[in-house]
Amino acid sequence: LASIEVDLSNIEPGTTVTVKWRGKPVFIKHRTRKEIEEAENVDLSALRDPQKDEERVKNPEWLIVVGVCTHLGCVPLPNAGDFGGWFCPCHGSHYDVSGRIRKGPAPYNLEVPTYTFLDNDKLLIG
Ligand code: FES
Repeated sequence: LASIEVDLSNIEPGTTVTVKWRGKPVFIKHRTRKEIEEAENVDLSALRDPQKDEERVKNPEWLIVVGVCTHLGCVPLPNAGDFGGWFCPCHGSHYDVSGRIRKGPAPYNLEVPTYTFLDNDKLLIG
């Protein structure tokens, strides 16, 4: 399918769900207030692939990223690693709550796919 619709109403704050889009996993993370603050307060000079959190989200409560490690393509594990985001077990890349690479061999942040909010509870990916 070129695009998919996702119902967000049952995704609790603090959890991440994975959907399939164009054969790839996409992570949908419902961020807590604390996670949003953490993501927004990171010093950009500490980042390998510097990007503000606000450039990576349309609504701070929802982080949508392609679940493919930018190192060699493994699927990172949610709510894991040293920065509260994802941990890639293949070679040890750590991503933060904005999906930005923080430690390990991956060169880039997790990719943000094209998406729009159809209404408060409906997401269209693609
Ligand atoms: Fe993720 Fe190598 S593929 S760290």
